[in-house]
Amino acid sequence: MRKFRRGAPSGPPFPGVVLPREQWSRTRVGLGREVRPFDWLATFGREAPRVVDLGCGNGRYLVGSALARRDHDHFGVELVPPALRLGSLRAGQRGLTNLKFAWGDANEFIAQRCPRGSIHEAHLYHPQPYYDRSKRDRRQLTPQTLAAIHRALAPGGLFVFQTDNPAYWSYACEVAPALFEWRVVEGPWPDAPDGRTLREIVARSKGLAIYRAVGVRLELDDEEVARRGAAMPTPDFDANKPGYGAEEEPGAPSAGEDAPGASPSKKLPPKKGPLRKGPPRFKRRRRGGPRA
Ligand SMILES: C[S@@+](CC[C@H](N)C(=O)[O-])C[C@H]1O[C@@H](n2cnc3c(N)ncnc32)[C@H](O)[C@@H]1O
Repeated sequence: MRKFRRGAPSGPPFPGVVLPREQWSRTRVGLGREVRPFDWLATFGREAPRVVDLGCGNGRYLVGSALARRDHDHFGVELVPPALRLGSLRAGQRGLTNLKFAWGDANEFIAQRCPRGSIHEAHLYHPQPYYDRSKRDRRQLTPQTLAAIHRALAPGGLFVFQTDNPAYWSYACEVAPALFEWRVVEGPWPDAPDGRTLREIVARSKGLAIYRAVGVRLELDDEEVARRGAAMPTPDFDANKPGYGAEEEPGAPSAGEDAPGASPSKKLPPKKGPLRKGPPRFKRRRRGGPRA
C-alpha cells in the first residue's frame, strides 16, 4: 500500500478557503480511555444542535456542513488516523470552531458516549460493506447500533444513511423503518451536488448508483424499541462484490484518496509494538497548527 503523505490528494477541493495560518483552529480532541458521556459543552463552549458523523473518513461532509451551518456543532469519529488527520487539517485550515474530530470506534461512541436524546443528527455515509464473510461482524449498521442511534437522538432527530452497495441498502431499508420514518432521497444532495463525501465522489466516478435516505426518529418507548430491535435480522447479508478476492476490501478510499481504506484491523496496529488499547498518542508538533 502507498504510504500516506500529508498533503496527498483528497479528491476534488474541499469546500471553503484556507485561511492564513494564524487563523487556523484546533479541531482534534481525544475521547479518553475511560468510557464516559461526551462533553459537548466543554468541547464547543456553547449549546447548539449536534451533528455526528459515524466513520467520517476524511471529513468532507462535516467540513461542508460545518461551513454551511455555523449554528450547529459537528463531531466526526473515525478509526483510521490518517483520514482523521486530514479531516482535522482541512477543518483547522478553515478556522472552523464548530467541528471536531476524534479517533475511535463510532459504534462505541454512539452507544456509550452519547446519552439519551443528546444529539440531533447522526450520519452514516458508505459504511464498509465487508465482502469477506469472516468480517461481517464489523459492519456498522446493526440492530444494536440502530437502537443506539435512536436512543441518542433527540425527538425529531435525523439518521442520515448513504451507501453505494445494493445489498447494504436493502438491509438498511429492511431494518431502519422500524425505528425511523424512512424517507428515500432521490438524486444528489442539493447542498453537495458533486457528492457529500469522498466515497460518494469515488463511487459516482465509477458509475455506481448511490442510495440515500433520511430517517426521522419515531417516538417509541424503550420497550417497543427493544421489541422491534429483537425482530430485526442481523447484517449477515452477502455484499456481493463480483470478483471479490480474500485480500480485497475496497470499502474505504485508498491512501491516495486520503482516507486509507482497509478494514480497521489492518489500520489500527501501530508500526511497531503490540496493539494499544485506547486512543492513540499523537506526536507533538514543533510548530503550532490545526492539530488538536
Ligand atoms: C468506505 S469509508 C467511508 C468514509 C466516509 N464516510 C465517506 O463516505 O467517504 C468507511 C469508513 O468508516 C470507517 N469505519 C469503519 N468502521 C468504523 C467504526 N466502527 N468506527 C469508526 N469508523 C469506522 C473506516 O475507517 C472508513 O474510513
